[in-house]
Amino acid sequence: MRRIIIAGNWKMYKTIDESVELVTLLKRSLVDIEGIEIVVCPPFTSLSDVHEALIGTNIKLGAQDCHWEKEGAFTGEVSCQMLKSAGCEYVIIGHSERRQYFNETNDTVNKKVKAAIKEGLRPIVCVGEKLEERQAGRTFDVVKDHVENSLAGLSKDDMLKTVIAYEPVWAIGTGVVATKEQAQEVHSYIRGLLMKAYGSDVAKETRIQYGGSVKPDNIRELISQEDVDGALVGGASLKADSFTQIVKGCL
Ligand code: 13P
Repeated sequence: MRRIIIAGNWKMYKTIDESVELVTLLKRSLVDIEGIEIVVCPPFTSLSDVHEALIGTNIKLGAQDCHWEKEGAFTGEVSCQMLKSAGCEYVIIGHSERRQYFNETNDTVNKKVKAAIKEGLRPIVCVGEKLEERQAGRTFDVVKDHVENSLAGLSKDDMLKTVIAYEPVWAIGTGVVATKEQAQEVHSYIRGLLMKAYGSDVAKETRIQYGGSVKPDNIRELISQEDVDGALVGGASLKADSFTQIVKGCL
């Protein structure tokens, strides 16, 4: 059985104080939740403080990116080992904003995914097409390219530690959520790719989140889809109320 996973990607929002304030509220509002994996991904600067605040709770910590080298002269970068030491269990890799603004490619995503797994972190690997790609009927091609090349060379065990987030770029931050049918169609396609590459056991166990304008009022129908195993939430994860409602909408 795949356990639902709801993760909040805070992007470049929240100072340390604001981060701690938000998780302090979330700890209270989500204390009774069982059976759903809850993850928050604050900016690097807040990780340690948020980790402290989350000790002993049912909320886990993730980062938003990593470098693939363990250490070295890479000014501005943060290694998986450093993330681990800050208390992270998860790391988002290959978000479309990183692909778009910071030259992230399938190749760098692949290196990061392998480094994260080696360090004992669970990667959340983002894939998804742009609006013009969908309009040109290229959705499946783009998703296949992202999935196959971002995850190239992973063993079955590695894959079982990995979460895939399908995030159509046209749905991110736009308020235009994919319909449940659009989400299900791509999620089931991704599961089919996993089936071919890793066999049915791995395909059945791997969780595929949907991301892009997830809100309290659309989570129920998205999560009702057979192959939608959770959500990666941007804007609505920045407020305790809306993130709590999204998590509770999956019960
Ligand atoms: P929004 O929920 O703000 O559309 O962002 C989605 C996202 O990019 C999560 O990684």
